Amino acid sequence: MLNATSPGAAADFMTLLEERTGQRMAANRNWRIETALKPLMRETGHDSLESLAVALRHDRIGKLGDRIVDELLNQESSFFRDSTVFDVVAEVVRAVPDTRRARIWSAGCSTGQEPLSLAMMFAERLDDHMPEIVATDVSETALTRAKAGRFTQFEIQRGLPVRRMMQWFDSIDGDWVAHPGLVRMVSFRRMNLVADPLPIGRFDVILCRNVLLYFPLDLRRQVLGRLAKVLRPDGVLVLGAGETVIGQTDAFKPSQRYRGLYEPNWATAAAA
Ligand SMILES: C[S@@+](CC[C@H](N)C(=O)[O-])C[C@H]1O[C@@H](n2cnc3c(N)ncnc32)[C@H](O)[C@@H]1O
Repeated sequence: MLNATSPGAAADFMTLLEERTGQRMAANRNWRIETALKPLMRETGHDSLESLAVALRHDRIGKLGDRIVDELLNQESSFFRDSTVFDVVAEVVRAVPDTRRARIWSAGCSTGQEPLSLAMMFAERLDDHMPEIVATDVSETALTRAKAGRFTQFEIQRGLPVRRMMQWFDSIDGDWVAHPGLVRMVSFRRMNLVADPLPIGRFDVILCRNVLLYFPLDLRRQVLGRLAKVLRPDGVLVLGAGETVIGQTDAFKPSQRYRGLYEPNWATAAAA
């Protein structure tokens, strides 16, 4: 639990998180702060949140801020999360004409389970239609882990059937490491969805799952507007199981073709 002198420090960390990523932590969840920052406090020799907050004030643009943000971000992910989504994405990609390569963007890819699941699925189809897969996240730490393709026994078991684990990963020192060829099917890049330039070109599918959940509404609307700009007119947006665009933005509407997915709302785009 936070001690009596912690609210100021907690507020500093919550402000930092929101400034850097747009993520707003609900006040009733600030108990998470101490739990999340404990390992970093231990590593940097700070025995209280206040002490860490003071160090942060002297290191506002330095690496300490990045580390704190990384620790506070929710980076929960798993392989083939909400598995039926992957069948629908495969269907969308199948509908792309042979004359061009389909493009998929995993926005907020965390430690890589989502784009690597896509890569496995498409590579196993053994046809010529391997889409380009771009995966981005604001967290450098998450991306470093994603690019290493290294997962603990606990992580690998979440959503990945044994057959795929054996086919695509090697057991090394108690962890499971993806074959380099699998990792190379994904272009991992650091990108803040709120502030950084958008990827170049348009996508057939954008997955932005379980990322916008903790954005305040105006920011969520703004980011959805940005995503719409790089989606093809016939492309689709995939959100997390508990997320919707309804009441959030005019940039998207529920897809007529693919259940549970969203398509750009061209009536709104034309009027804008
Ligand atoms: C809960 S994980 C979801 C991972 C994956 N999409 C899934 O559904 O399994 C949310 C990810 O969004 C990232 N994220 C949060 N704010 C972001 C921002 N402003 N720009 C880019 N990524 C962000 C976090 O670093 C984290 O890795």
